[in-house]
Amino acid sequence: MDYKTLAVKAVEAKKNAHAPYSKFHVGAALLTETGKIYTGVNVETSSYGLTMCAERTAAFKAISEGERKFTALALASDDPDFCPPCGACRQVLWDLCGDIDIIFVNHQLELMIKKLSELIPLAFGDERLKKLTNK
Ligand code: THU
Repeated sequence: MDYKTLAVKAVEAKKNAHAPYSKFHVGAALLTETGKIYTGVNVETSSYGLTMCAERTAAFKAISEGERKFTALALASDDPDFCPPCGACRQVLWDLCGDIDIIFVNHQLELMIKKLSELIPLAFGDERLKKLTNK
């Protein structure tokens, strides 16, 4: 799967974003090791703090379908420039997807690619929990 195709999926997914409060639409497309794509959008509610970001929607959809191995996530938004994933999503993607490629997509359909580990240096992870609990 080439990353341009994944980027287009993120842009298309953005159309389904439910963002009546912020009016900031975000779309994500998460690629599994076997080549399947799970899309996600941001979903806002009147209780603003319950909002779910596009990246986490995509990750939770994939995990709940039984997927465990991922290679990349593309992210598109209403920002004409490259839009970075928020801190909460960086942590969740790190825990659920590992050190995947994050594909930033701007409105010219240009791509910027970073490893997730570049975006979340010194990340907290489950190895610390395992160290203490021997699980
Ligand atoms: N948003 C995302 O979907 N992903 C991010 O990484 C940053 C923020 C959404 C949440 C909210 O619906 C809107 O963008 C404005 O913050």
